[in-house]
Order: sequence, then structure tokens, then C-alpha cells
Amino acid sequence: MDTKILVLEDYISTGKLSETDMEKLEEAAAVIKNGGLAAFPTETVYGLGGNALMKDAAKKIYAAKGRPSDNPLIVHISDLKDLKGIVRDIPEAAVLLSERFWPGPMTMIFNKSEEIPYETTGGLDTVAVRFPSDPVASLLISYAKVPIAAPSANLSGRPSTTSAEHCIEDLSGRVDMIVDGGSCRIGLESTIIDVTGRDPVLLRPGAVTKEMLESVLDREVIEDAAIKGPLKGGIRPKAPGMKYRHYAPKAPMVLVAPESAGHTAYVADKIMEILRERQPEFEKIAILCSEECLKELEEKADGETDRADIRLTGSRSDTAGIARGLFKHLREFDEDKADFIIAEGYPEDELGLAVMNRLKKAAAWQLIYV
Ligand code: TXA
Ligand code: MG
Repeated sequence: MDTKILVLEDYISTGKLSETDMEKLEEAAAVIKNGGLAAFPTETVYGLGGNALMKDAAKKIYAAKGRPSDNPLIVHISDLKDLKGIVRDIPEAAVLLSERFWPGPMTMIFNKSEEIPYETTGGLDTVAVRFPSDPVASLLISYAKVPIAAPSANLSGRPSTTSAEHCIEDLSGRVDMIVDGGSCRIGLESTIIDVTGRDPVLLRPGAVTKEMLESVLDREVIEDAAIKGPLKGGIRPKAPGMKYRHYAPKAPMVLVAPESAGHTAYVADKIMEILRERQPEFEKIAILCSEECLKELEEKADGETDRADIRLTGSRSDTAGIARGLFKHLREFDEDKADFIIAEGYPEDELGLAVMNRLKKAAAWQLIYV
């Protein structure tokens, strides 16, 4: 299959959608409406979009991603009015959360209506719904005049894509179209919260943090066990996608995290210790760390012997910046042909919970607390 790339040139250079850009979005919307697949940017990550009301579109999405078909898709809308038709009921918690966080990087789980086929929900009676704020995504959905089912636009098991280049790398030849709208503002997938039960449950942390959800709901939000640790045998995560190995570079990775913010100073010591221990075994060790950590490492290093490829995440104090670049770095390790990766971890509060969730999965839960 030939994949047509539509570059939103004016939007990328000026931040505003021109007539020409909008014509391109109409073209992509028509592809989706008629049962084809088009990848497009959102404020979180790129999505691989198909018509959420068509069984065959869902099947095509699974095939293009190489994704198991029991992993449900997120349905994207561009108007709150579109929610009614696709869900059976709208709980009070969902009303509160949608008023505060939609449009934005938050997905809610509802009981599905008959309009949404089981192919889209991976056989579940519930449906995940998101109302993105990104202007490209929201215009595309409104032009399509149907809700758009879109998982992250990456090959299954690889890090999500945050630029059109990464999308092309994974999906060229597998989808009809890729819309290039530049880099994603947030860089991590949306927060997912299940509002179908008595207690709201956080299934996947994202830029709408647990603290933000709790302050709007004025109550505690339970965290699904799959967020912080590997699931023990027999336990199923509530978001089926959380069980798969994800975001993983090809090389084995170990994560060194501070037990609390006060322990941050010990992280560099431990990274240096692991580097020295592993150097005889591996040729190309890579380190993913903050500028502050690099400084500490340089003070400890013996220039002659301690060699590693450094990838900087940014400043420890800028968690949003760390989040934005994370998936790009995880992909670069494959390009660099790193054979062992040591990554710095961060405190798990606010956006740090989402960053650590993705890092832990990339490290296949190989985690050392200091
Ligand atoms: O930011 C995002 O959410 C991006 C952009 C494109 O919107 N999409 C995204 O989709 O990350 P995906 O398919 O890569 O991740 C969706 C996650 C999976 O872990 C899936 O199992 C879970 O949502 N999910 C979808 N429907 C669900 C449902 N009915 N119940 C529980 N979990 C669900
Ligand atoms: Mg995904």
C-alpha cells in the first residue's frame, strides 16, 4: 500500500491552520469516513485513526499496528454532544471531569452504546472516549463527521510516536495516509480514568494527573495495580493494553529511581556503580539522565575508563520537558544500537507518575530504588 504523506506546512511554521492545511485535513477525514486509515497528531501522541463505527476499520487498525485484537481502541470525539450517541450513560463523575479537562489529554471509560461495534472495544461492553484539544485532531474529527477510533500510531510494542517522522518509520506502507502536524506538545498518552464503577479508578497516568482528578472529584482516586508494579500472575489489568511489554527499546534497560525526592542525590552514585559493573560485559552502554545527574556523574567519572553514550532528558525540575522527549529518546537507543541502557528515575508524584510508568515498562520493570 502506498502511504500518502500530507504535511501541514503552514500550521507547522506558523501554528495556525491555513486554507491549504484545512483542505488536506478534509482529504484525510474523507479517507477515515470511508473506511481507510489515517495517522494524525494530537496533543499527546500521534493517533492511527479509523471510523469508530465500522467493524472493518477496527480490524484494519489492529492489522496495521500488529496489535492483538483484544486490546481496545480509544474513540475520539470533537464535540461533547457526540458523547451521548456512543455511551449508555454519563455518570456524575464524568460530567465533573469533562467540564474541567475536556477538550484535553484525558480519556474516560463508559458503558458503550450499540452504536460502537465490539471490534472497536476489543469485545468489551465499555468504551474509552477522548476529546482531544489539539486543533488538527479536533478539526479532523469534525470533518470526518464520525467518531474516530485511534490507538497510538506505532507498531505494537514500540514507543508511541510523537512526530510524523516516527509515524512514517513505523507505519509507512501499512496505512493510507499520514498527516504531519509537527511534534506533539505533551508527548505521553492521555490519562485514562474508569468512571463506570462506584469508585473512579485511574488506569493509566498522564498529563491530567491523579492529583488534578482528585481535586475536581473531591475524593480519592484509586490507582490500578498495573501502574506502579508488574502484575502478579493471574491478575488482569483493567486496561488490557497495560499488560503488554511496551515502549521498549531493543536493549535491556535498568531504571535507577530515588525512593523519595530527598534521595535524588544517590541516583548518580548507583548509575556509576552499575556502569562500572556492566562495562566488561557490554560494548555500547547508554545512559538516559537529567542535566543535573550528568553533572554528578562527571564529577565521579574516571575519564579514561567510564565511557557511555549520554542522552539528556532535560532538567530534573522540568518534568513536562522530560515527558515530551521521552519516547524520542527510547527510539534513539535502537538507532544508536545501544546494547545496555541505564536510566534515571524520578519521584512519582504529579506528572512524574506518568513518566515513571512509561520508564518502568520500557525497563520491563527492572527497577532499583536508592
Ligand atoms: O493519548 C492517547 O490516549 C492516544 C491518542 C492517539 O489519543 N491513544 C492511545 O491509544 O494511547 P492506545 O490504544 O495506544 O492506548 C489505549 C489504552 C490501552 O491500554 C487500552 O487497553 C485502554 O486504553 N482501553 C481502551 N478501551 C478500554 C476499555 N474499554 N476499558 C479499559 N481500557 C481500555
Ligand atoms: Mg499505545
